[in-house]
Amino acid sequence: MNILFAAGEAAPFCKTGGLADVAGSLPPALAKNGDKVAVILPLYGQISDQWRKKMTFCRYIYVDLSWRHQYCGLFSLEYQGVTWYFVDNEGYFKRERLYGEYDDGERFAFFSRAVVALLPWLEDMPEVIHCNDWQTALIPVYLKDAACREEKLRCIKTVFTIHNIEYQGRFGAHIVEDLLGLNRNWFDDGTIAMDGDVNLMKAALMTADQVTTVSPTYARQLHHSFYAHGMESVIGRIDGKLTGILNGLDTVSYDPAHDGAIAQHYTPDDLRGKAACKAALQKQLGLAEEKDTPILSVVSRLVGHKGLDLICEVFDGIMDCGVQLVVLGQGEAQYEDFFRYQAGRYPGRVAACITYSDSLARQIYSGSDLFLMPSKSEPCGLSQMIAMRYGAVPIVRQTGGLNDSVRSCQVGQEGGNGFVFANYNAFDMLHVVRQAVALYHGDRAGFAAVQHRGMTDDFSWTKSAALYRRVYER
Ligand code: GLC
Repeated sequence: MNILFAAGEAAPFCKTGGLADVAGSLPPALAKNGDKVAVILPLYGQISDQWRKKMTFCRYIYVDLSWRHQYCGLFSLEYQGVTWYFVDNEGYFKRERLYGEYDDGERFAFFSRAVVALLPWLEDMPEVIHCNDWQTALIPVYLKDAACREEKLRCIKTVFTIHNIEYQGRFGAHIVEDLLGLNRNWFDDGTIAMDGDVNLMKAALMTADQVTTVSPTYARQLHHSFYAHGMESVIGRIDGKLTGILNGLDTVSYDPAHDGAIAQHYTPDDLRGKAACKAALQKQLGLAEEKDTPILSVVSRLVGHKGLDLICEVFDGIMDCGVQLVVLGQGEAQYEDFFRYQAGRYPGRVAACITYSDSLARQIYSGSDLFLMPSKSEPCGLSQMIAMRYGAVPIVRQTGGLNDSVRSCQVGQEGGNGFVFANYNAFDMLHVVRQAVALYHGDRAGFAAVQHRGMTDDFSWTKSAALYRRVYER
């Protein structure tokens, strides 16, 4: 099967979050099973020379967006059995950041339109285009629109994956004709309209042939207003074409036995290297160099849905458990300031790294004993899986993909790989943090067993890539 995967970001080329991990690792996993897979991405200014040197220029075309007539270059490179295409227009993509620009609507309408316009020029005409999140949500719409005129586009099917329903791509209704270059009927019949605005996520939900989201639990939760950010009625309408598939991990890149970023390598059966990683982390972050103090870490975008308000509410209670706390991430100022302030209050015990760093993240996973992820909602979550692979035992709220990847090891449960709590309540979370620390101190063999299970669980793409294949077949 020929599959074209379209996304706003993909590791290792450009990354702001988990979407990049998926777009960087699912396509190679599909290709390994024998399908012909290509990925198409914007050629951002952030993509380094290391990759640019490997690219070949394929051609250029002009893409029309209403009255705009824009240059659109196409570059490609081969990597991990996949053809990676890059759409070039420096006016749109040579910016300070990938998203969050004043004209995001125009930038990604251009990208989506370009993907459809470039189809005849790709090496293979895809049978399925797999789109991801709002940045590529217009592709199914433009494809249907163009297929009215071009017969060869009619047999291409689309899959749309919701990585996070919170980010929908909402814009004023005036953009329909003047920017998107679509007939007003697309809006008037409700296909791309939601609450009086243009809503790109809804547009894709309505027009894609199949819809997936990144865990079975999240697929169920999306029917409820608490999780659906206003989209529950749309989800209800498309339920028949919605499937939840848990993300996998790039288990080659995230492997403590080979990871070049960490202080010493280790395996599930020999954790001596992990002790060295912990010592190195304490030294590097200015934490007291105590080998028997558990390190509890948080690696996360510092945004509301990650459940950080729970941590803020019982912060001193967590510290009273006798842990060292490490936070890595950036995001909303209230959380950045909060963790910086706590680092000042607890010298040698709290480290606040308010930045984004892939290598520091790996050092933190490898040096930590416990990993806290109390998300209010979590479509899939990859950090808890990475943490487990690196032997940091996760403490998570039972939601979305956390519910599908972490099994409780608490009293009465067997075969668990982490700690869980159900209610979105700071004291429920604190109670479970206490349980985890108690196991760490009171029953080292028991703690090691939980750690070992997490490290040896299968988080690879094998199972999930096969499930995606079935969706494509449908
Ligand atoms: C989004 C979600 C996260 C998921 C990732 C990849 O970032 O918030 O839960 O793991 O997408 O699908």
